[in-house]
Amino acid sequence: MSIKIKKAVIPVAGLGTRFLPATKAIPKEMIPIVDVPIIQLIIEEAINSGIQDIVLITARHKEAIENHFDFNYELEDTLGKKQKKELAELSKNIGENCNVITIRQKNPLGLGHAVLCAQPVIGNEPFAVLLGDDLIDSKIPCTKQLIDLYERENASVVGVMEVPKNETLKYGIVGGKMLNPKLMEVSHLVEKPDPQYAPSCLAIPGRYVLSPSIFKYLKDTKPGKGGEIQLTDALEKVAKNERLLAYQFDGTRYDAGDRLGFIEATIAYALKRPELASGVKDILKKYSG
Ligand code: G1P
Repeated sequence: MSIKIKKAVIPVAGLGTRFLPATKAIPKEMIPIVDVPIIQLIIEEAINSGIQDIVLITARHKEAIENHFDFNYELEDTLGKKQKKELAELSKNIGENCNVITIRQKNPLGLGHAVLCAQPVIGNEPFAVLLGDDLIDSKIPCTKQLIDLYERENASVVGVMEVPKNETLKYGIVGGKMLNPKLMEVSHLVEKPDPQYAPSCLAIPGRYVLSPSIFKYLKDTKPGKGGEIQLTDALEKVAKNERLLAYQFDGTRYDAGDRLGFIEATIAYALKRPELASGVKDILKKYSG
């Protein structure tokens, strides 16, 4: 019987320089899409995929994230007394359905190094990795789609999406043999290749379900692209020595780490809110003339 996947790693140690000045004093993960911080949307995807333990790989000045998933006694008590019970519950419920565990990444040595920092908590179990810049809106959460595949195939899985050829240099790109129109047996990966060296147009937008063997490969991974220890390079070793699948998940992905992507995500998520949809449509009409 395969082990159920109950843990997820979410790296949140980055400085968020693409969003300065907003990120000078506030973690980029706390920037809201409408009124929900991005990190809450990511953690909700994990919880809705059956994850119980969230391992945040964090850094200095990121305490606001931990506080967000804790009770805020003063706020909840005040709201309760002011007969604003619904708001008090809203605040309380945020951290109710998961355990948030934090580990400091003391040096910014790259995504691969951030994931390796989680080893003491993950131990010898398969686990999910979710990156906070990528929002994926789907009926079945993207991470759940990958977990189902991992449990069925007993192989590590990365979520992929097709990107235009000139965008391969923004992502980890997979290459290999298509097993069916949505599933690839991966033989090769390249981190942010120039289009002429990209093995395909299938890009990894920050969703992975991995065997714990990744840790042994990460320990052996030398700094790669940008001088950082890359998760993509360790995955190459999984593909060569074990089995790695790439699955074209169902869902819409937003690049919330990019200013235009962030604006698009804000509009898309606002349009999903019944109380905001028609007002947002009016605003869009007003500005699209
Ligand atoms: C990271 C990964 C890359 C992946 C991307 C998804 O890069 O290294 O393989 O495709 O996230 O967002 P970053 O964008 O953090 O530089």
